[in-house]
Amino acid sequence: MTKNIHADKYVSKISDLSNLISKIVISRGNPFAKLMIIGEAPGAKEEELGKPFVGRSGKLLDQLLQNAGIDISLDVYFCNVVKCRPPKNRRPTKIEIQENLPWLYQQIKLVNPEIIVLVGKTALEAILKNKSTISILRGKWINWNGRLVMPIFHPAYLLRNQSKEEGAPMSLTKSDILKIKEKMDTLK
Ligand code: URA
Repeated sequence: MTKNIHADKYVSKISDLSNLISKIVISRGNPFAKLMIIGEAPGAKEEELGKPFVGRSGKLLDQLLQNAGIDISLDVYFCNVVKCRPPKNRRPTKIEIQENLPWLYQQIKLVNPEIIVLVGKTALEAILKNKSTISILRGKWINWNGRLVMPIFHPAYLLRNQSKEEGAPMSLTKSDILKIKEKMDTLK
């Protein structure tokens, strides 16, 4: 596998995952967006294309955002807590998360979003340091360092739970995303 020397140099400062990967995945979308979406870590497709949320989960997330009237290339900046793909798509370890956090904080500072959406448990715990579950916190606005933060279910979870019934994860997420869109409209 050919490695990108510059990316490697950068990655080696991020985490030991750098020894195992060929690419780092930083962001997708508009760096001037008011809305930042933070996921867990890149998967295989994200690593291949060098962009977050471009695999099956990402496509579902894009669709849900677009259905709510959010322009994904203009209104959103996508990134992850961990910038390198953990082997076999395992969850990142606590150490990997700790090592990557300074880079995420730097991204938040530079993009300066008014709204941050935490996609799934890893992002929730990494940012809010909160052990409460996504089921409890999803859809709720939380003030974090002067920014509005909302956790939502991870789209990978939605792909495994596709019931369309009211009260099921998919319909809850649709209403959470509508809430986010409403908030974005009040900020314009
Ligand atoms: N899941 C994530 O959390 N992030 C991605 O970029 C892709 C899938």
